[in-house]
Amino acid sequence: MSSTHGAEVLVASNRGPVSYETGEDGSLRAKRGGGGLVSGLSAIGPETNAVWVCAALGDGDRAAVRRAEGGLLPEADTGGQRVRMLDIDPEVFAAAYNGIANSVLWFVHHMLYQTPLEPVFDAEFRRQWAAYEAYNRAFAKALAEEAGEGAAVLIQDYHLALAPRMLRRLRPDLRIGHFSHTPWAPAEYFRLLPDDIAAELLTGILGADRAAFLTRRWADAFTECCHAVLGPGIPAGTRIGVHGLGADADFLRERSHRPDVAERMAALRAEIGEGRRTIVRVDRTELSKNIVRGLLAYRQLLDEHPEWREKVVHVAFAYPSRQDLAVYREYTAEVQRVAEEINSAYGTPGWIPVVLHVKDDFARSLAAYRLADVALVNPIRDGMNLVAKEVPVVSDEGCALVLSREAGAHEEMGEDALTVNPYDITGTAETLHTALTMPAEERAERSKRLAAAGTALPPARWFLDQLHALDDQSS
Ligand code: F6P
Repeated sequence: MSSTHGAEVLVASNRGPVSYETGEDGSLRAKRGGGGLVSGLSAIGPETNAVWVCAALGDGDRAAVRRAEGGLLPEADTGGQRVRMLDIDPEVFAAAYNGIANSVLWFVHHMLYQTPLEPVFDAEFRRQWAAYEAYNRAFAKALAEEAGEGAAVLIQDYHLALAPRMLRRLRPDLRIGHFSHTPWAPAEYFRLLPDDIAAELLTGILGADRAAFLTRRWADAFTECCHAVLGPGIPAGTRIGVHGLGADADFLRERSHRPDVAERMAALRAEIGEGRRTIVRVDRTELSKNIVRGLLAYRQLLDEHPEWREKVVHVAFAYPSRQDLAVYREYTAEVQRVAEEINSAYGTPGWIPVVLHVKDDFARSLAAYRLADVALVNPIRDGMNLVAKEVPVVSDEGCALVLSREAGAHEEMGEDALTVNPYDITGTAETLHTALTMPAEERAERSKRLAAAGTALPPARWFLDQLHALDDQSS
């Protein structure tokens, strides 16, 4: 197979670094995203020929791909990055992304099923699985076309579990890494999947030279699944690695002191009221984030420690995610319902107990981080959770971190955080009380150590370490 652009380094992910919106006049507006991969990839410098392969997610993206005639997107749109976006048939894409990636693989790795009635692996599931295979094949083909001889290819996440093996078959010369940003399910849970599907997922990833995870716990779970499904000697030829992803301290400190953040701090202060303590949480509204139990714990705090009434505000930002899925829409509605219930039961003329915002606003998130006395991060299960790492860096006075033991971040931050079992509402309520009453000096000291731990592995290092590890046979 011939190479179109002879790239030396390739990244593949479902969501790319840019998305497009179509204006009323039909014009396309590019919107650049952030995140670990974007800053990681920029660390390799312009002298390296790098290409990012991603999927078109909506109509705007598809129009942009047509305009690029199947080639690279204009660099003016991507901030200089070379991006090839794949216009995969919308039905195939929807079945692969919503059907398999988000409704099956995400549920398995985050252990979200209500097992008396789900999952159901029937003919419809098999149809969606065929689409997932086609979607992965489209990526493997594009990567094979773009990669120069012996290039390094870093394939991201559960959307692309089959692509490493498919690519290996097309291009045996390439060095291939796969990285999982999610937790990995324990073997007994992973084996809810039909045996052939479980095996296909594992052997798909094992097509890579190296499979990497955010924590040792997720890496070990993957190895256990390989033993349980494929046999004791597996993985044989694939190295297993761990690369924790941390927050970007320089970026956060600079960005959180810009005027738009100051403006939002003023608005938030007005909503919170003078002299009150804050319990802050910021999440995409994922089923795994456990926002509802966080609200229930806050309600219990107000019941059992009435001294906090009118003295504390729960600032909860729950931003939209995967709204094509009914279960996500229902979860968002439940978050709103419980927040309203608390406000009408406990609120007083000058005090709103829960300040909830559901419209994404990064500057407002940073404003909330700066005002945080307590950060609440209580996911059911989470690959890492960067919010846990970001709030201690940004909070003006230092914050106490209430952290789920099921978040990957707990491996690095557990010592100075206050640990909770995410299902235990009584325990979480008591821990919120402990966090709120922590002496200011202790809180500031802990917050400093949390910020240091949370920024020890910035995105650039995370990315470069993986790249170097691909060449190093011992890691
Ligand atoms: O946060 C974990 C993660 O798997 C990221 O790696 C990935 O970008 C995201 O979730 C996928 O979410 P979405 O469906 O919104 O693209």
